[in-house]
This record gives sequence, C-alpha cells and structure tokens, in this order.
Amino acid sequence: MPELRFPDGFLWGAATAAHQVEGNNVHSDWWAWERVPGTPVHEPSGRACEHYQRYPEDVALLAELGLNTYRYSIEWARIEPEEGVIDQEAVDHYLAMTDRVREAGLTPFVTLNHFTLPAWLGRRGGWLDAAAPRSFARYCTRVVEALGDRVDWYATINEPGVVAFGGYLGALGFPPGGRTVGEWERASQALIAAHLAARDAVRTARPEARVGQTLSLTEWEADAGATPLLEYLRRMTEDVFIEASADDDWVGIQTYTRQRVALPDALAPVLRRVIAVSALRRVIVPVAVRRGMRHFGHAPSRDGVRRTLLGYEFRPEAVAATLRRTAALLPGKPLVVTEHGVATTDDRDRVEFVRRGLTAVHDCLTDGLPILGYLHWSALDNYEWAHGYAPTFGLIEVDRKTQQRTVRPSARMLGEIARTGALTVE
Ligand code: FCB
Repeated sequence: MPELRFPDGFLWGAATAAHQVEGNNVHSDWWAWERVPGTPVHEPSGRACEHYQRYPEDVALLAELGLNTYRYSIEWARIEPEEGVIDQEAVDHYLAMTDRVREAGLTPFVTLNHFTLPAWLGRRGGWLDAAAPRSFARYCTRVVEALGDRVDWYATINEPGVVAFGGYLGALGFPPGGRTVGEWERASQALIAAHLAARDAVRTARPEARVGQTLSLTEWEADAGATPLLEYLRRMTEDVFIEASADDDWVGIQTYTRQRVALPDALAPVLRRVIAVSALRRVIVPVAVRRGMRHFGHAPSRDGVRRTLLGYEFRPEAVAATLRRTAALLPGKPLVVTEHGVATTDDRDRVEFVRRGLTAVHDCLTDGLPILGYLHWSALDNYEWAHGYAPTFGLIEVDRKTQQRTVRPSARMLGEIARTGALTVE
C-alpha cells in the first residue's frame, strides 16, 4: 500500500487547555463568567476532566499511544491568584506535571495563556487594562524561569484573534462581554503587545526555547458581494496577528473549517463605504457581526453541507489553505499545526478528519512548506467554552459521571501514524 511519509523529528501530539480539562479553576475570569446571569454560557466547567489530579493517567495514555508531544497550558489564575502573589504549590504542580510528561517520553509544548485570565485582571477589564501586557510578561518570566530547561516549546497566547473578537466585540459569548469596535480594536492591540512582551520574557528567561503564538485561521470563501466584509474581518481577526508573528520562531496554525460568505453583489460598494468610514463602521459592524455569528457554523444542514456538532462545515482540508496562506504572508517561517480536530459523536468522523487533514498537510510538505508538527485537538473530551460539554473533540473519551477514560480508535490510529511516521493511503 502506498504511504505518505512525514519528516523525521515531526512533532506528533494532542492538545488540551487548562480551564477545559483541569476543573475547579476558581480564580479565573471564566469561572466567574460562567456564573454571571444572562451570559450565553451553556453550563459551568465544574470539575471538568479532573486533569489537575488525573494528569499522570492522561499523560501515560498519550505516551502509550505512540505520540511524542503533549501540548497543554499553564493557568495564570492558579499561578497568580491575587495580583503579585505567586502560589508556589501551583508552580510546583506544573513542574511535577512537566517532569511526568518528559519521563513519559513526550515533548512538553506549553501554552502560557489559553483564553482564561486571573479574575483580578478580569475585574479590571481583562486585556483592556493598561497594565495587562506587562502583568502577563511578568507571569511568563516566573513560569519560564521555574520550568528552566524542562521546556523548549512555548506558545505565548492562544488565538488572540478569537479572544478579542469573542470577548470584546461580543461575538462568541466570552468574558468580559465587551460589545464595541473600539473595545475590539484596543483588545487586539493589547494582545499583540502582550505577545511581544511575553516573547521577550521567554527569550530572556530561556534563550534556547522556541517561542511563538497559536492562531485561529479559517479557510474563507466569499463571493463578490461579501468580499469587502471578508477582507476586513480577515485582516482584523487573522492578518494583524500573523504579522505580529514575523519575528517569532514559529507560528501555530489552528483550523477547524471553511467559512463561506455570500451576499448580493450590489452590497459590495455599500460595505466598502461602511468599513472605510469609521463612524459607520462603529455602528454597523458590531450588529452585522453578532447577527452573522448567530449563523456561523450553525447554518441549517438542509443546505446539503456535511457539518460537525458545532455546525461547522466538515472540511479537514481547510488546514492546507491556512498553512499556505500563512506561508505566503511569512515566507520560510516554521509552522506547527497546533490544533485540528472535529466535534462528533461518531469516532469514524474523527478518523476520517485526521486522515484527510494529514493528507492535506503532507501535500503542503511536498510543496516545501516548513511544517514541524501536527497536534490534534483534543486529547480528551472537554469543556468547550460557552458550548459546555456537548461538543466532544477527544481522541480519548471522558465519561462525565465516572471520569473514566476510554481510548478511541482515532487515538490508536494517530498513535500508529506517529510511531511509523507514515500514513498509509488506499
Ligand atoms: C479553539 C480553541 C480550543 C478549542 C477548539 C475547539 O478555538 O483554542 O480551546 O475550544 O477551538
């Protein structure tokens, strides 16, 4: 049977994020947000997967599968539950966990911020607080110094574009619940400043580390009528962050779907004008985006498109489009697929998603793109933010009542590909 070979040293792994798996993240802004009446949060995170206690078992499972990398995040709200106060027990926890990851033969791939903030910073407006980038960099210094030579891979901030769009324009029901273009723009700028400050902090504390950020990127398709809107949204949610990665050691690519936008042709000149004129933009964009987001991924399946549990188009190959676009914007920059996955109740969908996604990644490698790894989202079924626990993304199933882990066939398949460095194709 023919096989697609991947480079030696390729990072093969799975990803999680602290708030989504650890449980009882009580000092975080998300924990508080989950309790605010009227937010669109489906259910609170609660005990999550108890990964804070059960990580030894989870790490062992990932290693037994044959993976060589584990991407996980460190929770700022645990490390610094009150401003300026470092919780040494939390630091020790992540040191022990990282040791366990390494002893299991996995490369630790550490995200320093994955959506959540300490509640004290959330109360001050989150990323809009003028001191937020500085505070973040200070926390990064503490963590990176403590982890020392245990970690070579750091992601500063996960999906800054989603954080800004979701929490400050009010598009995704994220904290702190901002709702204006002005807040969105300021949060985006703050997230870029925070990434750059954190990158410097990591490099100072550990010059050998490879540091980057992980970006949510979508394959977009717009007809002529929707093109001005597409260009504006893509610039604001993706391109500004790709450009901010120009001097990073690598860029993380996280792609779940293709988004098609269709609008009557006659709207294009009107949209162009609205977007160009700041006063109009500020009034119309929030309304249009929030309306549009209600349909994002939730278009009815009677349109004949195969969809995932989140309503996204089932489109594993979208990752190739975003890899190629990033490579065109930052030629030669090393790329890592830091998330790619599917919410489904049928693991056969996941098997297909991984196989088709990896085939598309392999095409990009064949064309010379410097892709260093593939980290699947997610290791475990977990807390999918405002959607709660229903959308299951795990290679490993987690029983919500008993917390029992069950390895799915897709996990075994990815482990086999990781072990052999090859994907067999029919
Ligand atoms: C990404 C997030 C991750 C998870 C997946 C499904 O946007 O980084 O935490 O929610 O989507």
